Amino acid sequence: MHIPVLLNEVIENLNIKSNQNFIDCTFGDGGHSMVILEKNKPNGIVIGIDLDEKNISNVKIKMLKLQNLEERLILINDNFANLEKIIEQLHSNDKFKNLKFYGILLDLGFSSCQLEEDRRGFSFQKDEQLNMRYNIQNDNAKFKFNLTAKEIINKWPQLKIEKILKEYGEERFAKSITAKIIEQRKIRPIATTFELKEIIKKATPKWYHFLKIHPATKVFQALRIAVNNELENLKQILPQAIKILEPGGRICVISFHSLEDRIVKQFFKQEARDCVCPSEFPQCVCKHQASLKIITKKVITPTFEEIKNNPRSRSAKMRIAEKF
Ligand SMILES: C[S@@+](CC[C@H](N)C(=O)[O-])C[C@H]1O[C@@H](n2cnc3c(N)ncnc32)[C@H](O)[C@@H]1O
Repeated sequence: MHIPVLLNEVIENLNIKSNQNFIDCTFGDGGHSMVILEKNKPNGIVIGIDLDEKNISNVKIKMLKLQNLEERLILINDNFANLEKIIEQLHSNDKFKNLKFYGILLDLGFSSCQLEEDRRGFSFQKDEQLNMRYNIQNDNAKFKFNLTAKEIINKWPQLKIEKILKEYGEERFAKSITAKIIEQRKIRPIATTFELKEIIKKATPKWYHFLKIHPATKVFQALRIAVNNELENLKQILPQAIKILEPGGRICVISFHSLEDRIVKQFFKQEARDCVCPSEFPQCVCKHQASLKIITKKVITPTFEEIKNNPRSRSAKMRIAEKF
């Protein structure tokens, strides 16, 4: 069971009013959406998007019918990077043509269920095939990215692997780990999480194995980001989200590592300024106009209590901005 992170803070800051519509771009187990649906009663709608078709399955849709939510929760299996297209398509349906949106939520990364139950190789604690894709089907034409972690590890050139371990994992031993991967894959293909974990152990010094975080953490993070094109998806959705929001509507982003948080922080900062010309320019030539007001001057993090009850929330960082 996935416990929604920063739930009270999300609900409070989305400023939810009765009958307003919201978009949950990372529906997951619906933890945040269900509470939004409580607050935007009786007629407010939530569009729930998830790349993982399991989260948008028929079983879930049947469950919604039982809860009388089928008219108010619309589930869509897609990549949130396609947000404008998704909403365009929705607007082309007469029933939804006038839908306006007052809040957009992004709760990035994966859910506890995906980590624990899905056997996709997200966790180095379990011996599983190195897949790491959020969308399971291999041949779903809707999704451009059919890469797997196994393919990266066994087929990508050495420098390209080293680059993602450095950039997406901020892994200090990227070079030696990659060299070990290349050495091992010449003997036989690396297929499982445990094989990769063993390689990482062999390629790193002993003291690195006794730190607070497991020595495989950063490599697994880097592979997951690369497989799912995570940073690019985030960069693509932010400007689309602003276009879709009504004035006064809010965007709320929860991220779980500094690379994502940096993208959100910089985007909000840039969009909150009227001019984005380099400081040495004598006068403005960009004509950029601020579109956002930053609501969270300081990033919001979980309380000690929340981290105690849900240790997975410990690295969460939330930023909120409001459209002018
Ligand atoms: C942390 S979980 C969300 C949990 C949810 N807020 C809840 O409380 O149940 C993140 C979800 O986002 C989905 N996801 C990740 N990247 C996505 C993308 N680019 N487009 C759509 N969904 C994505 C994952 O499949 C996962 O289900």
